[in-house]
Amino acid sequence: MAADQSAKTGADIVPAPPQANTHCTAADYDRLYAQSVSDPDAFWGTQAERIDWMTPPTVISNWDYDPVDIKWFEDGVLNICHNALDRHVAAGKGDVTALIFEPDDPNSEARKLTYAELLSEVSKMANCLKAMGVKKGDRVTIYMPMIPEGAMAMLACARIGAIHSVVFGGFSPEALAGRIEDCGSRFVITADAGLRGGKTVPLKANVDAAIDEPDHETPLDGVLVVNHVGADIAMVQGRDHWYHKLAATVSNDCACEPMAAEDPLFILYTSGSTGKPKGVLHTTGGYAVWTATTFHYVFDYQPGEVFWCSADIGWVTGHSYIVYGPLLNGATEVMFEGVPNYPDFSRFWQVIEKYQVNIFYTAPTAIRALMREGDEPVKAHDRSSLRLLGTVGEPINPEAWRWYHQVVGEGRCPIVDTWWQTETGGTMITTLPAAHDMKPGSAGKPFFGIQPQLVDNEGGVLEGATDGNLCIIASWPGQARSVYGDHERFEQTYFSTYKGKYFTGDGCKRDEDGYYWITGRVDDVINVSGHRMGTAEVESALVSHAKVAEAAVVGYPHDIKGQGIYCYVTLNAGEEPSDELVAELRKHVRTEIGPIATPDHLHLTPGLPKTRSGKIMRRILRKIAENDYGSLGDTSTLADPSIVDSLIEGRLNR
Ligand code: WT7
Repeated sequence: MAADQSAKTGADIVPAPPQANTHCTAADYDRLYAQSVSDPDAFWGTQAERIDWMTPPTVISNWDYDPVDIKWFEDGVLNICHNALDRHVAAGKGDVTALIFEPDDPNSEARKLTYAELLSEVSKMANCLKAMGVKKGDRVTIYMPMIPEGAMAMLACARIGAIHSVVFGGFSPEALAGRIEDCGSRFVITADAGLRGGKTVPLKANVDAAIDEPDHETPLDGVLVVNHVGADIAMVQGRDHWYHKLAATVSNDCACEPMAAEDPLFILYTSGSTGKPKGVLHTTGGYAVWTATTFHYVFDYQPGEVFWCSADIGWVTGHSYIVYGPLLNGATEVMFEGVPNYPDFSRFWQVIEKYQVNIFYTAPTAIRALMREGDEPVKAHDRSSLRLLGTVGEPINPEAWRWYHQVVGEGRCPIVDTWWQTETGGTMITTLPAAHDMKPGSAGKPFFGIQPQLVDNEGGVLEGATDGNLCIIASWPGQARSVYGDHERFEQTYFSTYKGKYFTGDGCKRDEDGYYWITGRVDDVINVSGHRMGTAEVESALVSHAKVAEAAVVGYPHDIKGQGIYCYVTLNAGEEPSDELVAELRKHVRTEIGPIATPDHLHLTPGLPKTRSGKIMRRILRKIAENDYGSLGDTSTLADPSIVDSLIEGRLNR
């Protein structure tokens, strides 16, 4: 059968290898999926039993996409931190290892924390927050390295009902300031500094710089500082507190705040096609059920196994599959501070061998970068513990998929390619390891409860094997509920393009077997190394430079990053293009946003291709950035068609 389908779709099919234990066979998937869409309340009512509720919900779902109002388990009461920690300790699993911390430098000391130890630490941190004046509903910004205290900070907030807003440690003071300001956060949890690939990241100094930003209005009431590397930092009397000092004065016993299912759990900023990053809001009950359920099925986690997700807690992957999903399932997991290429390219495989990792979850960009170094660094380490591999963040090219499967996983491990988004809270489309054959490059089938729909640009529904814009037509428990402080923007961004449907922003192909192939963003968002970047954000960073008149930013294919950032820039009258200015502008973008937004190509041009009404024709800019000059399309509507030749010449010269 597999061979037949392969002939039909032209794609490889890799059969699901048998699993000794599984939570879901092919027959289970068919039965459960059918139930999850025909009677979602019955299905999710059962899944909600994974959670220990203070008051179990009687109402399961209650949502509408027009106008947008999404509620799950609305009369349920719970605390997600209790579910991640206390519950396991109470069940006699206090001695099970929760976190295995592997530091950036392999010669530094690793740490292991059991569930009982983590509970005690989180309770202490929660009491520190209370001592600083943090109350239920307050927003707390977390700007941390990848150390256990980062996860503890999130759980401590959840424990006392504060809303966490984690900002990736690679963001600049400017970007941090915007995210503190937007949600009116008056508290920050940070560290003196972080370590990544042997380099020090001055986190506390960045917090200080953020507060000093001229347009930063909200003063901070408290900053909790974890002493991680012993960096020399400034402490503001009365505002800044060393965590270890404050922790020594509080108890390690802290009651969990009862939270209504729809009480906010966290805000996470993400880029869109327009404007500033949006504070995507997730609430407590639905997110708990969703992350617990997806982790259980997608990774098919079995008690005693060691799980490792190599993401950062600053992204949604870290929220759902480092902090909440694994801990809700009582799993043992690795938390890694470092990067794949430090001290050398075998770091990942060395960690896998050291901790006998069974399930490994990483991004295609890391796989491509490691693949380029050849098989030797991989084969230098024993990977026989691996049972399952996963990828997330961007489409994986079949070549990288095969290398991951054959070389890393020795052809033995199924791969789950998980498609999802900050807004979806957890995995939406994937193959399940024991249930589905895999097709390299395809994310696979919808997870339980997920009803994808492909539509054309006018919103017409497309059936069967086809290409279209990916929408989801029914809510799921982990769906974002709003944009913090701007529900209209939430409606506008996700539910207005195709009325009554959640529009993902992704293009997608569905094949004859009902497998989904994500083809990438169809909006002005680019995906750089699995991180979402709004072209508008980079443009506004560029035009904030005194010498820049206009900027247009597009993505283009990049061997390692998936997409690179290509910037077309025009200068103010009287400014001369130069290599120095190019370097200065690149640096300016890093300062404004952070290193992840560093332009790969900065193209100084005398003009941009515009229509007579002044609209920049991005289609043309994309084609030129892609070095694809044969299909520029109709350029006759341009105000000045000659600009195209000059742009092509500029492109060829670099
Ligand atoms: C966008 C969401 C999901 C957490 C990390 C990124 C792209 C994500 C896949 C995948 C193809 C993928 C999409 C999506 N994407 N996973 N497995 N295959 N594309 O979260 O920053 O919210 O970005 O990442 O384009 O819309 P995010």
